[in-house]
Amino acid sequence: MSSLSIVGISGSLRSGSFNTSLLRYVSTILPENVQYTELSIADIPLYNADIQAEGYPEAVAAFRDGIAAADGILIVSPEYNYTIPGSLKNAIDWASRPPAPSFSGKPVGLLSASTGIFGGVRGQAQLRYIMFAVNAIVMNRPEIYVASAAQKFDADGILTDQTTKDLLAKYVDSFMDWVNRIGRK
Ligand SMILES: Cc1cc2nc3c(=O)[nH]c(=O)nc-3n(C[C@H](O)[C@H](O)[C@H](O)COP(=O)(O)O)c2cc1C
Repeated sequence: MSSLSIVGISGSLRSGSFNTSLLRYVSTILPENVQYTELSIADIPLYNADIQAEGYPEAVAAFRDGIAAADGILIVSPEYNYTIPGSLKNAIDWASRPPAPSFSGKPVGLLSASTGIFGGVRGQAQLRYIMFAVNAIVMNRPEIYVASAAQKFDADGILTDQTTKDLLAKYVDSFMDWVNRIGRK
């Protein structure tokens, strides 16, 4: 089977981010035929149609192009005040603009990690709704919410919780199946 390209996006800019650690763990258990790239939202400016009219800034263009080129997209995001971080929403807003809105028709998998006991379930539901707006095709199940994240990663950000690893293995199987069904270019 030819290789598939998957891009990963973390909704956290924090160097010690549990969500980025979760994304990086998932990237290590993707099948061998996957070409994986992590896209950064760190340098994306606040959305402004005046800036857009002058041309997409470099960080925005790289983000848009990375999504457009992908067969599938994984977004791993914290929940901030019951929704997604503004920085992630801002990046998605940039990606949604014409020509060729980047997320449209793309298979997307969502995951979240939180230091709280709900694992970011409310934020992830909001992200699902935003993905609806940008016409992404989000995998419904299985769902992954990594609660009490501080107990599941070590001080170096390595995932240590076996139950979570087992769930993620099943998640990746389902996600690759989803991408194969929907995302093959
Ligand atoms: C501004 C802010 C708001 C937060 N709101 C929530 C929240 O609504 N629900 C939740 O479970 N955790 C919330 N948290 C805690 C985050 O789950 C925790 O900081 C987590 O480690 C952030 O993800 P990261 O480690 O990937 O940066 C909030 C954190 C911040 C900084």
